[in-house]
Amino acid sequence: MRLFIAVSFSPAALDEICNIRDALSLKLEKASYTRRDNMHLTLSFLGECGGNEMEKACTAMDALDCKPFSISMDHIGSFHRGDGDIIWLGAKRSDMLLSLQKDLAGNLSERGFVLEKGKFRPHVTLARRAFPSFHEKAGVNPIVQEVSSISLMLSKMVDGHMEYTPLHVKNFCRL
Ligand code: 2AM
Repeated sequence: MRLFIAVSFSPAALDEICNIRDALSLKLEKASYTRRDNMHLTLSFLGECGGNEMEKACTAMDALDCKPFSISMDHIGSFHRGDGDIIWLGAKRSDMLLSLQKDLAGNLSERGFVLEKGKFRPHVTLARRAFPSFHEKAGVNPIVQEVSSISLMLSKMVDGHMEYTPLHVKNFCRL
């Protein structure tokens, strides 16, 4: 099973993210757009997992000691790919988000997960295989989301499209 750990968005935030995606679609000739149900911000991509790795991922999440905090999604950017750009909505720099991602990666590594190296670029993918290239780094009206939990997600191809299902949720306590 293919797993990742992500922050989910409220229905109100998803409405706003979809508005940004739809406005973006007017500027692109071609792209594959993320469906509302699939919008999330990935903290850690675990890839193909088996054996007791799902349980280990759950204990890595449960071992976190994190209080709820807010993030603000405030700009659009892109990753260049040969088959067309990935266009995303990025999070404003947040020390809380960075330390959550770092602590989670530490807990996962301690349990044997080998994670991809590279800088954490917190984002929600809006479109893939997008043409023409989108060089602009555009600010958008900030979309604020409280991060009061994170979810272990199963990624599965169903009828030709990706379906993401939460398998485990770690809630953050205020106290
Ligand atoms: P993306 O949206 O930028 O593609 C499920 O695939 C989630 O894990 C997506 O949010 C995806 O980010 C992220 N992810 C990170 N590394 C990945 C990888 N090597 N392959 C697939 N998805 C990856």
